[in-house]
Amino acid sequence: MAWRESAKERAAVEAVKLVKDGFVLGIGAGSTVAYALREIGRKIKEEYFHVSVVSASSQTSKLAREYGIPLTSLDEHLQLDLDIDGADQIDEKLNLIKGMGGALTREKIVASASKTFVVIGDESKLTDALGKNQPLPVEVLPFALPFVTSKIRKIGGQPVLKKSSLGSPFITDNGNYVLNVDFGVIKNPLRLDRKLKSLPGVVETGLFLGMADVAIVGTKTGIKVIRKKQ
Ligand code: 5RP
Repeated sequence: MAWRESAKERAAVEAVKLVKDGFVLGIGAGSTVAYALREIGRKIKEEYFHVSVVSASSQTSKLAREYGIPLTSLDEHLQLDLDIDGADQIDEKLNLIKGMGGALTREKIVASASKTFVVIGDESKLTDALGKNQPLPVEVLPFALPFVTSKIRKIGGQPVLKKSSLGSPFITDNGNYVLNVDFGVIKNPLRLDRKLKSLPGVVETGLFLGMADVAIVGTKTGIKVIRKKQ
């Protein structure tokens, strides 16, 4: 699906148009966000644009440094002007599944700290039902892994431990594991999120509910902008 790369790039470049000089940004993780970082880096270099970024992942921080983007932290800025992040699924109410890159917890913190949250992706991320052909990432404390795994099975999920490219368990920037859980179609995302968050040892879920303000989605030929209904 070669069109997806140009669609992701189009969405990312469009999202960066919302960034104003002087903004403190939140930036998530993933391949779509990488295009946004490249565009921000270009604007800093060519347009003498001043922004700083609170990064939600070590990979994003590395890329930001490569593009000459100044990094800052939540210690310096409790509130961010705008967050740009990708997603694994986006439903029509702009509820999301995120975290297939394993950065869900920091991504949720950064999105929550931002005045506006813009989600970007290609059209394949749009869905009529969260969880359809898409597992839900759940970050888990290593100590609690057997306990949480068995509890998730009891509530109807099929958890698979996320692995790194070397085949060992993937470790998040917070030192935790990620379970990618198949729940099938998630009929009541809020209820599932509450159930999962009530399990001791669950650090965070990849359900981002009611958080995104706007989705900028690259299609095969253009861009679709979907705003949150008030
Ligand atoms: C990482 C994420 C990513 O935003 C999500 O996985 C989408 O990634 P990509 O833009 O590569 O499709 O949530 O934790």
